[in-house]
Amino acid sequence: MATPIRIAPSILSADFARLGAEIEAVTKAGADLIHIDVMDGHFVPNLTIGPAVIKALRPHSKAPFDVHLMIAPVDPFVQAFADAGADGITVHPESGPHIHRTLQLIRSLGKKAGVVLNPGTPIEAIDNVIDLVDLILVMSVNPGFGGQSFIASQLKKIEAAANRIAKTGRDIALEVDGGITPETARQAIAAGANVLVAGTAVFKGGASAYAANIAALRG
Ligand code: DX5
Ligand code: ZN
Repeated sequence: MATPIRIAPSILSADFARLGAEIEAVTKAGADLIHIDVMDGHFVPNLTIGPAVIKALRPHSKAPFDVHLMIAPVDPFVQAFADAGADGITVHPESGPHIHRTLQLIRSLGKKAGVVLNPGTPIEAIDNVIDLVDLILVMSVNPGFGGQSFIASQLKKIEAAANRIAKTGRDIALEVDGGITPETARQAIAAGANVLVAGTAVFKGGASAYAANIAALRG
């Protein structure tokens, strides 16, 4: 049986003045995970939120918090995000000198460890750490902003990641992030993705549209 598709709304596209209510609304609308984009204005050219906000949001949803760290250096902050309520912590190989050590650190804190590949990062970057990961995230836009267009060349990378995951025989989630619409969702699922991050496509139209927006992405 095929792995069920999970939808992870990215709160980057939510109303930041009402984040708690927004998380409650997408959870009620069927979100499987809450995707939280953490940016430092250095690793990526944008600034978002930190552990204090994640901690404040934690009581607003029972869905796992899927925390995508776009910060460098990353190691000094992993513990703070774990303590704030992250269930999974996903890191870029470029955000520190020792990705293997960073993944070990995340796991030592009892959290699911993810590795994320930018559009320009080769698939081989996961080969020597795949035994340490619970999730592989393929970026289908360059990280930093919501609302960008899906980069179709990344579909091949999703396929390559799916093949590598199959070879391990382990249950490793395969997530895609950026420019996901009902149409690109279908393409990503066909390539092997089973967790879809979506900001714009989930939060458009306000809370009354969230359930239909999420359903439309499941294909
Ligand atoms: C980009 C973030 C994404 C982004 C997705 O750096 O990692 O999660 O918010 O937004 P959309 O779905 O609008 O492309
Ligand atoms: Zn993200």
